[in-house]
Amino acid sequence: MKRILILLVMMSAAATAQVAAVPSLAQTFGPYFPVGAAVGPDDTTGPHAEILKRHFNSIVAENDMKWARIHPAESTFEFSRADALAAFARTNHMRMRGHTLAWHRQNPEWLFQDANGNPLQPTAENKALVLSRLEKHIRSVVGRYRDDVYAWDVVNEVIDPGQPDGFRRSPWYLLTGTDYIDTAFRTAREVAPNAKLFINDYDTTDPVKRQFLFNLVRDLKRRGVPLDGVGHQMHVNIDCPPVADFVETVNLFVQLGVDQQVTELDMSLYHDSQDSYPRPYPVALDRQAARYRELFDALRQMKGKITGVTFWGVADDHTWRSSRTRTDWPLLFDNQTQPKAAFWAVVGAAQPAASTRNPGQ
Ligand code: XIL
Repeated sequence: MKRILILLVMMSAAATAQVAAVPSLAQTFGPYFPVGAAVGPDDTTGPHAEILKRHFNSIVAENDMKWARIHPAESTFEFSRADALAAFARTNHMRMRGHTLAWHRQNPEWLFQDANGNPLQPTAENKALVLSRLEKHIRSVVGRYRDDVYAWDVVNEVIDPGQPDGFRRSPWYLLTGTDYIDTAFRTAREVAPNAKLFINDYDTTDPVKRQFLFNLVRDLKRRGVPLDGVGHQMHVNIDCPPVADFVETVNLFVQLGVDQQVTELDMSLYHDSQDSYPRPYPVALDRQAARYRELFDALRQMKGKITGVTFWGVADDHTWRSSRTRTDWPLLFDNQTQPKAAFWAVVGAAQPAASTRNPGQ
């Protein structure tokens, strides 16, 4: 009996040691940048919350601060979900990023309609109308989270390299030209003077796209529009873009003296939109780990140039990269919230021999 008891005590000590042996992401990168994750209220309890508290010191709402969620009707704000996330960040001494104020997706219909529900046509009056809607929205949302959000994605995905002038033909653009960009930054600065204000986009390693983005940021800064930083979403895959291209992009924007963050990092296991696997296979997971290692080695080497790295999710059991038709595994923790090979690669530690690779996925 006594022997069994001793054995049990030893086993539980070993289990504790095993847990403690997993290095914390946030601590590992403490000298470099905060490590964030995109979350919703479901992530604030259960296994995801445990991962967040141990490994992350920053969060961003995956959807709950987007216009359609937080401002669904002209005189209706739905703050409860975003409030819950802000409270979680406060309780756990995490930073919070804000995402996002002006975007072409996840908007409520009323935003670009007149009082009768008809689409707004591009006229001077309608331009003034949507700019005043934008201003009111920013005053309310940024004002409410003034003490919680330290960095805002003020405008999101405004560049379209397929356009001759590089500007996405979003409803914002069609109704206001590029004035919505100025209005969004100026209003956000006025309401939250201490927040870092970002322009955020994907594919910023694409040479044509990044040049349009560079020109826009340079122009905004020259004209005194209060912009502090550039966010690189970094929804990448196990093939591309090359890490060297990302380094080149960061070094390009360093010339403009802006803050830079990786804002939505995840790495699909798929090469293209046609592939589909029932489960992640070891070669792809190893490739993912190697690419994540390369990326984080580069991030370490660029110390001082990158002021935040946020993953677009906590663990593979909840990721926007998975759809109804195929499952993806783009993050550092698996479906059971266990650290993957990619996790060990990122923290620069050997994967413990005992840990199985993505058990049960
Ligand atoms: C995604 C969310 O993850 C999904 O849940 C939602 O259905 C669509 O939006 N770029 C962005 C993010 O800036 O807001 C997007 O988030 C992913 C792409």
